[in-house]
Amino acid sequence: MASRLFDTKSIKQLIDHSNEAEHKLRRTLTATNLITLGVGAIIGAGIFVLTGQAAAQYAGPAIVISFVISGIACMFAGLCYAEFASMIPVAGSAYTYAYATLGEFVAWIIGWDLILEYLFASSTVAVGWSGYVVSFLADFGLVIPPSLTNAPLNHIAGQGWVNTGAVLNLPAMFIIALMTALLVIGIKESAKINNIIVMLKVSVVLLFIGFGISHIVPANWSPFIPENKGVFGIFGWSGVLRGAGVIFFAYIGFDAVSTAAQEAKNPQRDMPIGILGSLAVSTVLYIMVGLVLTGIVSFKFLNVPDPIAVGVNAAGAGLFWLRPLVKIGAIAGLSSVILVMLMGQPRIFYSMASDGLLPKSFAKIHPKFRTPYITTIVTGTAAMIIAGLFPIGILGELVSIGTLLAFLIVCLGIIVLRRTRPDLERPFRTPWVPLVPILGALTAFIQMLALPGDTWMRLIIWMAIGLAIFFFYSRKHSKLTGALSQALKH
Ligand code: ALA
Repeated sequence: MASRLFDTKSIKQLIDHSNEAEHKLRRTLTATNLITLGVGAIIGAGIFVLTGQAAAQYAGPAIVISFVISGIACMFAGLCYAEFASMIPVAGSAYTYAYATLGEFVAWIIGWDLILEYLFASSTVAVGWSGYVVSFLADFGLVIPPSLTNAPLNHIAGQGWVNTGAVLNLPAMFIIALMTALLVIGIKESAKINNIIVMLKVSVVLLFIGFGISHIVPANWSPFIPENKGVFGIFGWSGVLRGAGVIFFAYIGFDAVSTAAQEAKNPQRDMPIGILGSLAVSTVLYIMVGLVLTGIVSFKFLNVPDPIAVGVNAAGAGLFWLRPLVKIGAIAGLSSVILVMLMGQPRIFYSMASDGLLPKSFAKIHPKFRTPYITTIVTGTAAMIIAGLFPIGILGELVSIGTLLAFLIVCLGIIVLRRTRPDLERPFRTPWVPLVPILGALTAFIQMLALPGDTWMRLIIWMAIGLAIFFFYSRKHSKLTGALSQALKH
């Protein structure tokens, strides 16, 4: 039995299965669509909200160095994702890669863990979206009562879970419902809307960089790395490192490109382009935004929910016209992150259901829209409830730890597969194996260690629930295990 836990699925099996008519998704996405999809998932709450807070509290202008460090760490993982996605171009991302390399048990663990990334990220960003929308409406005198725009639950160190007195975060729930409806209708339509939104948010970021540059006051950059305050993580080099850990959230999403492999026209060639291209575009934009933002306003004023808008204000009357645009860009930007995350999750559930690890009905494709509509609705409903109830900080940390665990397993998977299946065709090869995957796994693990104990506890509880489901349901229904025991009988 123990060895059966590590049974793997052959890559041919995976690809053949994905091509069976009843499981076929529509292949419509081009390389450009995939880069846009990645940028759509990446640029969001991280840059529009967290950058300012991380600069003000931990790194100062050296948040720029934090972006470089975190970007390099993501590039290691991105290179590993690119090899897998070009080699196994079926929906399911890291879940499927683990199935092909490390066996059904690890695959289940990673599939269950990915829920923390995609489903919880969509809720996290929806909470950020709610904050921006509330502030935007307030600019026009429209005030929604705070009890309807905040989380009713919060966790306070020493006190545990407390009731905040709020009812529900209604705007956060609304945006998830809207995006879920869009995703049921179709991937092509969703990709089109995503393209428009991405253009809008990237334009706003570029306008900010382009017009902000001439308002930079170099004195704001001095000292570039503020002196450490005597505590680890508060400025100085340790602050730069903690800053990198916090803004890691800003890079999450490039791996979401891999969940759309089954809908890409030419996945072998285009998956690496989509993953690495979107990561590169975002890294460059983040570094530029970091430089301009801390150049036009002292980092001390950036601990706010809308730091980019504060930067524009600080530049003076010359940039006032950019203020509403920044908020609209942020709202649009956060919407596309929610969209792509809500798109990734059902495709992972869909793959798990096709393998028999989740109920069969989860793998149903809508007869008209050709989308995995059941899993899309299940995901949307769960994400809505979570977004309505919990605050952004707790959700964000869970997303980070879940994503880092997935990165770690993917990096290790590359090393394993190079040894066990050197013969497989690899349209894209991760360079310098095993160095790059080892560095990828190591940087992921170090960033996990930087997260608080409470977050680790939640990860462990989540994984324990997942294990229970695996042993009581999934293992008994697994198609692979079923097929293997049939084969053994004959
Ligand atoms: N990277 C995404 C964001 O910043 C999750 O919102």
